[in-house]
Amino acid sequence: MKRKLDFWLTLAILVFVLTFSVLAYAYWYELLFFIDVSFIHWIGLGGTIFIVTFVPIYYVLKRNKPRKLKSLLRIHVFGNLLAFLLVSVHFSQNLGRLAGFYPRLSDGFVLFLVMLLIVATGITERFAGKPKLARYTKPVHRYSVALFYLIVVVHTLQGFNII
Ligand code: HEM
Ligand code: HEM
Repeated sequence: MKRKLDFWLTLAILVFVLTFSVLAYAYWYELLFFIDVSFIHWIGLGGTIFIVTFVPIYYVLKRNKPRKLKSLLRIHVFGNLLAFLLVSVHFSQNLGRLAGFYPRLSDGFVLFLVMLLIVATGITERFAGKPKLARYTKPVHRYSVALFYLIVVVHTLQGFNII
């Protein structure tokens, strides 16, 4: 029952991701109000900070407190989906802003593709009825995380003009 509810909640979040991404792409200029770096970059930073801190926390707590696994997994699933929402807005706004100069789309674009892969395989692992399918997606969900961390470091350093 809870799994079914979680599935519908996941779908609802994905609809939000799509809606806000289209709006951020189409109205990128209106969204560009500045707080030191533009607000939309702070959104990207917020979502990324959540992912890079809570994924290792989940990894450790899952092993130390196995009885809490169900609630930890829900935090993992919905926390990361909401972070995905924030990152998608950051991504789409940049896509709109750079639409005329797409050679400038670089590591951030690749980072988003890696993130899409992680989210899609996570959803498959959590909700696909067939365990056989998850057998293939499971290693992808885990091993692409290393790539995600690597590109996040490069992109963040670039975002702050350090490299
Ligand atoms: C998963 C997380 C993220 C994704 C998918 C992402 C995606 C993107 C994309 C597609 C761009 C357009 C340029 C490019 O392709 O490199 C971009 C630009 C930018 N991002 Fe991110 N980003 C993420 C996280 C962050 C973080 C953590 C920061 C930290 C400050 C950040 C700051 C910036 C800045 C400042 C730009 C503008 C760069 C420019 O105009 O040259 N992003 N991002
Ligand atoms: C960018 C975001 C995400 C990252 C970096 C990430 C990373 C990870 C990692 C490293 C594991 C292995 C944990 C372990 O072995 O202890 C894991 C497990 C898992 N993730 Fe994700 N994940 C993300 C998003 C999601 C999403 C959005 C979902 C589902 C909608 C999801 C579903 C799962 C499931 C079902 C497991 C297996 C449960 C377990 O064995 O602990 N993940 N994830």
